[in-house]
Amino acid sequence: MSSISELADLFPRASDIPADARITPLHQRETLVGGEMRRFDGELKAVMSALRVRQPDGTLDHVEVGSYPLGGASEARAALDAAVAAYDSGRGRWPTMTVAGRIACVEHFTRLMVERREEVVRLIMWEIGKTRGDAQKEFDRTVEYVSATVDALKELDNSNSRFQVVEGTIAQIRRAPLGVALCMGPYNYPLNETFTTLIPALIMGNTVVLKPPKFGALLFYPLLFAFQKAFPAGVVNTIYGRGEEVVPYLMGSGQINVLALIGSSRVADALKKQHPKSNRLRAVLGLDAKNPAIILPDADLETTVRECVAGSLSFNGQRCTALKLIFVHRSIADTFVAKLADAVNRLKCGMPWEEGVQITPLPDENKPRYLHDCVAQAVELGACVMNDGGGMSAGSLFRPAVVYPVDARMRLYHEEQFGPVVPVVPFDDVQEPLDYIIGSDYGQQVSLFGNDAGQIGALTDQLVNQVCRVNLNCQCQRGPDVFPFAGRKDSAEGTLSVSDALRAFSIRSMVATRQSPASKALLNSIVDGRRSNFISTGFLL
Ligand code: G3H
Repeated sequence: MSSISELADLFPRASDIPADARITPLHQRETLVGGEMRRFDGELKAVMSALRVRQPDGTLDHVEVGSYPLGGASEARAALDAAVAAYDSGRGRWPTMTVAGRIACVEHFTRLMVERREEVVRLIMWEIGKTRGDAQKEFDRTVEYVSATVDALKELDNSNSRFQVVEGTIAQIRRAPLGVALCMGPYNYPLNETFTTLIPALIMGNTVVLKPPKFGALLFYPLLFAFQKAFPAGVVNTIYGRGEEVVPYLMGSGQINVLALIGSSRVADALKKQHPKSNRLRAVLGLDAKNPAIILPDADLETTVRECVAGSLSFNGQRCTALKLIFVHRSIADTFVAKLADAVNRLKCGMPWEEGVQITPLPDENKPRYLHDCVAQAVELGACVMNDGGGMSAGSLFRPAVVYPVDARMRLYHEEQFGPVVPVVPFDDVQEPLDYIIGSDYGQQVSLFGNDAGQIGALTDQLVNQVCRVNLNCQCQRGPDVFPFAGRKDSAEGTLSVSDALRAFSIRSMVATRQSPASKALLNSIVDGRRSNFISTGFLL
């Protein structure tokens, strides 16, 4: 691939789009509020695809995938009121329902969700440009996450289904909901990462206001009907619109008890400050990251290159866990960079439905310009683009760039590029990447490549106190989802995993009494007569 026009030719003509990838524009006029699909008669926001269509004269046209309601403060108020009413200060049907009852609703929802798989997958492809395979994986991983969450809750609840007697006090301790959760996911995993907070929030008895991400909003529409059918009215409510208007409004109301945001630390910081009662707000946050790789002189280069390519360029580098800066020991830097450039040259660029495609168009139309500027600044300061056509773009398609040697003067050294640019920094002393990590605002993960047990062991001991996951000879990643996903500094607040998320969206609450014959009789009669959903010894199978 040597020219921009060849890159532009990768966009299809309308007639080239295969039937099983086509989409009919979806103009969404309703939002789910208080159990109703409410019609919205105001202004709609056009949703433009990450993909473009090529005209006979070669120009690339934007494609409108559809539109959604551009709600404002009054729509935010309505969604919030519905969530607050359904929670009813903890007395609503949902927060007081048995755990078994809530699990049944979530399982009902999952069955309905699975029926909409193809629609959602196609919207993921068109809205954010994810490959079909990755879009399917995102959907299926989400369904698996829901089912693992149900299993984890059964285990948690069963372990709490007994009384404890300590120092003359009988107690039953369970986890109770927190109130109204505002759930907002990111555009790179619009379905999966939204659901990794939404489902635990729901299943623990909270009611929810869900705001879809800026790209990847329409794909929630088919699921609104499933939410409506599976959950009591007001348990799931949606707000669509300008984030900068509706979200501050919601936070400023003081009625949001949990802010669940996968997004930027700047936004999270501002939103937390808008809540008038900061002590009443719990934040569950997945934020920025600039995960580095450190390649030691004895690293196996074949494995290292394979993992670095996947780590830095899967979904075009648009993963919070992506490798965003690669430190390589100077003694092997030239060989490594040559192999890396070669591997990147072999990545197939194209449309999400094409077999074997790895690099696809970017949904954020400002991103190619931003990436060009970062690469140009690095080149101006002495770095080179090491792969063929790296950094070239046509429309929303940006050919990945391996940039070397990068140093601390360059933006690529500090900024989270969140796109297909792979900056490589040579080092002489391993203290250099360690200092980078210590000085960084972020602390999510690191990948360490090498084979000397003594060195890897010693580095791990330092790195686990800087980040939350040290990956040995493999890329950084969130999964498997049962493992803790956390970050230090500006990278996260709280831990997400299947079981940790249940804890994040709940609080321990207990009932206690003196150990006396009268108390025992009272408790027995509540349990035997099934007079309480909290005081119970039922076992969930
Ligand atoms: O964008 C951040 C995601 O949590 C990354 O998940 O590592 O499974 O791609 P992943």
